[in-house]
Amino acid sequence: MKKILAFAMAAAMTLSLAACGGNGGSASSNKGGASASNPGSVSGSQGGSSADASTPAAFTTVEAGKLHMSTNAEFPPYEMLDDAGNPIGIDVEVAQAIANKLGLELVVDDMGFDAALLAVQNGQSDIAMAGITVSEDRLAKMDFTDSYATGVQVVIVKEGSDVTMDNLGDHMIGTQMGTTGYIYASDTPDNGGYGEDHVIGYETGAVAVQALVNGQVDAVIIDNLPAQSYVEANAAAGLTILEGTWVEEDYAIALQKGNTELMAAVNGALNELKADGTFQGIVDKYITAD
Ligand code: ARG
Repeated sequence: MKKILAFAMAAAMTLSLAACGGNGGSASSNKGGASASNPGSVSGSQGGSSADASTPAAFTTVEAGKLHMSTNAEFPPYEMLDDAGNPIGIDVEVAQAIANKLGLELVVDDMGFDAALLAVQNGQSDIAMAGITVSEDRLAKMDFTDSYATGVQVVIVKEGSDVTMDNLGDHMIGTQMGTTGYIYASDTPDNGGYGEDHVIGYETGAVAVQALVNGQVDAVIIDNLPAQSYVEANAAAGLTILEGTWVEEDYAIALQKGNTELMAAVNGALNELKADGTFQGIVDKYITAD
């Protein structure tokens, strides 16, 4: 295990308390009055004079009546595209449930992983959800809700490979560009990394795994659930996940820094979904107990 991050509490901040205050209440009451089932109409969230929501505007979104989620739909089972090219997955469904609670229409904006993080920082999306790890560096650039999952990064190798957790630094490692897997692995040995020369960042996790299949890298570091999915998808290539954990992290929803009203609403909705079992129901749809 290279690193253990303890940002869950930092990310959690005290926002769950806000759910007890005005914003949490308005998040719930917006539901009836706003446009979840009527996309395109003016949302109560914008507080326009035409919206007859009894609660005053508590938050604003990038586009009236909509909740824009930036993501990188290359990360099963959190986000991926179905056969028709529509985004699906745990993050997408949780975001949909949050949007429903807030009376907003969910719009999923699919892009590169780095771009998804930048979009929310720059105020081009309202939330970024992409199995995003809470890290110290990211906390300096964006705000995070309470954590909603633990991410465990693992190492994929070819069956029979001599790569082990301990000699990873002697090999070439593939990762998805911009992910914590890339950031930590390419860090200097002093900081628990293997140095940039040992790490290649690919556009997606799937491409990194393809590079492993083709022998261009000796191992791939990636979050556990996508790893399982990629190993299954490449069954013919004989891939396997090394025993053990490379790093353990917390996933949370990212928002633009300082957007406290929307943060309170989204975090309040997330916590309601956790409390009433909706969240677990979504997870269970995608993750079968092993
Ligand atoms: N948890 C890792 C990170 O935050 C990887 C996330 C990659 N997500 C994605 N949708 N491609 O850096």
